[in-house]
Amino acid sequence: MRMRELARGFPVGALGLGCSSMSHGYGSAERDDEESVLVVRRAVELGVTLFDTADVYGPHTNEELLGRALRPYRRQDVRIATKCGLVVGSDGRFSRDGRPDHLRSACEASLRRLGTDTIDLYQLHRVDPAVPLAETWGALSELVAEGKVRALGVSHATVDELALMHGIHPITAVQYELSVWAPQRKRDVLPWCRRNGVGFLAFSPLGRGFLSGTLTRDSLPAGDSRLRDPRFGPAAMRTNEAIVAGLRAVGADHGDATPSQVAIAWALAQGPHVVPIPGTRRRRWLEENVSAADLRLTEEDLRRLDNLPPTVGEMSWDGARTQPRLGLGHGHGRVPVQRQAHEVPTATGSDCTWHTERGL
Ligand SMILES: NC(=O)c1ccc[n+]([C@@H]2O[C@H](COP(=O)([O-])OP(=O)(O)OC[C@H]3O[C@@H](n4cnc5c(N)ncnc54)[C@H](OP(=O)(O)O)[C@@H]3O)[C@@H](O)[C@H]2O)c1
Repeated sequence: MRMRELARGFPVGALGLGCSSMSHGYGSAERDDEESVLVVRRAVELGVTLFDTADVYGPHTNEELLGRALRPYRRQDVRIATKCGLVVGSDGRFSRDGRPDHLRSACEASLRRLGTDTIDLYQLHRVDPAVPLAETWGALSELVAEGKVRALGVSHATVDELALMHGIHPITAVQYELSVWAPQRKRDVLPWCRRNGVGFLAFSPLGRGFLSGTLTRDSLPAGDSRLRDPRFGPAAMRTNEAIVAGLRAVGADHGDATPSQVAIAWALAQGPHVVPIPGTRRRRWLEENVSAADLRLTEEDLRRLDNLPPTVGEMSWDGARTQPRLGLGHGHGRVPVQRQAHEVPTATGSDCTWHTERGL
């Protein structure tokens, strides 16, 4: 597989592998750890080097699974990307925790579960508005200084927050949803990354499976979290089929490339610093997805894809965020934090904040 440089000194295979659906994903119905281990190992054979997980996936079991799957390989041949800063309570609800003490113990626990002594890319899963960001990011930078973490990343921060963090300690890669049906970050974060030499991990590049053209609403089992995503509503799915048809039409001009392959190639075409991290629990689909790294879309293909009808049920990525506290002027680790409980909002029907709760 071709390589890409996320940031200077951080080369990875052009495609990464998102591991969340192996143990956390959209529902627990189809969990198969043995096959998932084989998926990870096949990915290594095919040239994938970056594997994305999080402590909250499972919770915890996804890191254990990834650690087990990667055990046979030389540590320097693979890059482990995990995340911190979200916690799940005994009632299954998610909340943010960006306190330095929590991040330090979360890192130790992730290292143990992954069976390694260094995390290659440690990502803040969500900014905690109850903690000055300078404190949160400062605590993470101390983990780099101690050698527990090689590089830092963040998911779902605003551009102002990115600028603040980058000034304290360089961001190696950010992580946001980016796909043909969720192109919003092309307008703000993607150009910021380009200007600042920061990599961009494109999560859910297959629209959580919708863009593959293999899903119907009836095929989603009861309890599948996508049933609460407004883009998967019955009427929305029917209208959004036009997007899959557009992917299929472009694929037809490339030796019948599948909609998934065209969707991944679109994400790759957004810049040399973009690394899509599609998720799958099946070797067959992994192989299909990996071969998209060789699919070169033309300018005309990209124009056609960028002019597809807008997504019905499109969500705001930070609609639920309370006013962030940038924490300018605080010396991290020295100012006591008055923590306020900050629950990640629950989805309610067409609530545009759906993915802040489940799309982790
Ligand atoms: N930072 C964040 O907040 C955040 C949020 C969401 C996701 N992520 C990361 O991004 C990764 C990927 O996102 P995602 O899994 O949500 O969405 P995705 O990659 O867009 O789609 C995954 C879905 O597509 C299916 N699929 C994969 N390849 C396929 C193919 N060739 N043909 C048909 N179906 C195919 C998978 O099915 P099977 O599972 O049945 O194989 C799964 O249901 C996650 O694993 C996670 O690491 C991060």
